[in-house]
Amino acid sequence: MAEFRSNNVEEYFKGKTILVTGATGFLAKTSNPHVAIQRLHNEVFGKELFNIQRDKWGEKFSSFLSEKVVAVAGDVSLHNFGIKDQTLIQNMLQDIEIIVHSAATTKWDERYDVAMNMNTMGAYNTLNFAKMCPTIQVFLHVSTAFVCGERKGLIPEEPFQMGQTLKGSSKLDINLEKKLIEQKLSELHAQNANEETITSIMTELGTTRANLHGWQDTYALTKAMGEMIVTNMKGNIPLIITRPSGILGTHSKPFPGWIEGVRTIDFVFVEYFKGEITSFVGDPNITMDLIPADMVANSMIVALMKSRLKRIINIYRPYFTEPEIIFDDKNTEKLRMTIKGVDNVNREFNFDPKSIDWKDYLMNVHFPGLLQYAMQPKM
Ligand SMILES: NC(=O)c1ccc[n+]([C@@H]2O[C@H](COP(=O)([O-])OP(=O)(O)OC[C@H]3O[C@@H](n4cnc5c(N)ncnc54)[C@H](OP(=O)(O)O)[C@@H]3O)[C@@H](O)[C@H]2O)c1
Repeated sequence: MAEFRSNNVEEYFKGKTILVTGATGFLAKTSNPHVAIQRLHNEVFGKELFNIQRDKWGEKFSSFLSEKVVAVAGDVSLHNFGIKDQTLIQNMLQDIEIIVHSAATTKWDERYDVAMNMNTMGAYNTLNFAKMCPTIQVFLHVSTAFVCGERKGLIPEEPFQMGQTLKGSSKLDINLEKKLIEQKLSELHAQNANEETITSIMTELGTTRANLHGWQDTYALTKAMGEMIVTNMKGNIPLIITRPSGILGTHSKPFPGWIEGVRTIDFVFVEYFKGEITSFVGDPNITMDLIPADMVANSMIVALMKSRLKRIINIYRPYFTEPEIIFDDKNTEKLRMTIKGVDNVNREFNFDPKSIDWKDYLMNVHFPGLLQYAMQPKM
C-alpha cells in the first residue's frame, strides 16, 4: 500500500507547472498582462497570508515569486481563456501538467447568462484547454457541496450524470438552457430593455430554471452543470472534483484566522458583531456545513497526489499481484542455441536471463542506475 510521507508532497510538486484559474484573483476581466501582474502582487502576495513567506525570503521574496509564478490575464468563459498571444498559449499548452480550476462566480443569485458563462462554460473551456496539454496529469475541479440541491438526508459522494435533474422526470439539457438564455437576451435586446431590466430578468430566469430542476439557486445549478461537463467529457484525463461546504478563515496554516472579505455565512456573524442583528431564526441543534480555507487547500493538495498514486497502483497492480505467468520462449531459446557454440558471440551478445544473478542485478545495478540516470531533478 502506498504511503504518504511529508516530503512526498514537496517532491510531487517540485518543478511542476500548475495552472490555477481564479483562486488568486488575478485572471480578471482585463486583457492587459501588466494589470494582471500588478493584481497578483497587490491582491495575492501582498496579503497578510504571505507574511511568513515574505519574512522567510526577505528581500528575495519578489524575485522568488517572479521565478515561480506567472500571471496570465484570461477569461474562463472564452475558448483558450480569450488569450490572443499564440506564443503564450503554445507555451502554456506545452508546459502545464496540473490544472486547478477554481474560477467562478460565487454569487448565489447571479444572472443566469453570467453564471452559465463562468461556472458551466468556464468548466467546459478549462477542460478543453486541459485536453490540449500533451503532458497534463490531473484536472482538479473546485465545485461546491451545495450542488446537492434541495435534496435531504445523506448526499452520496457521486458524480453527476450528464442531463441529471434533481426534480421531475425531464432531463436537464445544458444546450437547451443555453438556448433559453440566448432567446431571452435577444428578446430583451429587441425590446431595447435597459441594463437594469436585463439584469433583473436574467437573474429571475436563473432562479426559475434552478428551482425547476431541484436546485436552490442559480449558483448551485450552474456549478452542478459544470460538474456534469467535466465528469462526462474528461476523456482520459484523471479528474478530481472537490466539493467544499461554506469556506471560513484559516484554521492554522499559514496562521490561524486569515480570511479575505466577508462572505457566505459570515454576513450574519458580522451583522451580529455590529449589533445590527441581535437574534436570528434557526435551529440550535442544526449541524452547520463549514470548513476552514486551509483545510480545503490541504485536501486538494493531498487529493492531487492520491490521484497520481492511485493511477500508478491501478496500472501496475496486475504486474505485482496476478498469479505467476509462464511465457513460452521456445523460439527465443532456439535463437540462443544458434550462438551457444560460438564462444565470443555468445559472450558478447548474451541474452540468457538464467545467467543473471537477479538479486545482485536489481540491488547493485538496476536500482542504482534508476537513481542515477532516471531520477535526475527536472531542470
Ligand atoms: N467561498 C466559499 O465558501 C466556497 C464554498 C464552496 C465552494 N467554493 C468554490 O471555490 C472556488 C473559489 O471560490 P472563492 O470563494 O474563492 O471565490 P471568489 O473569491 O469570488 O474568487 C473567484 C475567482 O474567480 C475569478 N473569476 C471570476 N470570473 C472569472 C472569469 N470569467 N475568468 C477568469 N476568472 C474569473 C475571480 O477573478 P476576479 O478577481 O478577477 O474577479 C476570482 O479570482 C469557486 O469555484 C467556488 O464555487 C467556494
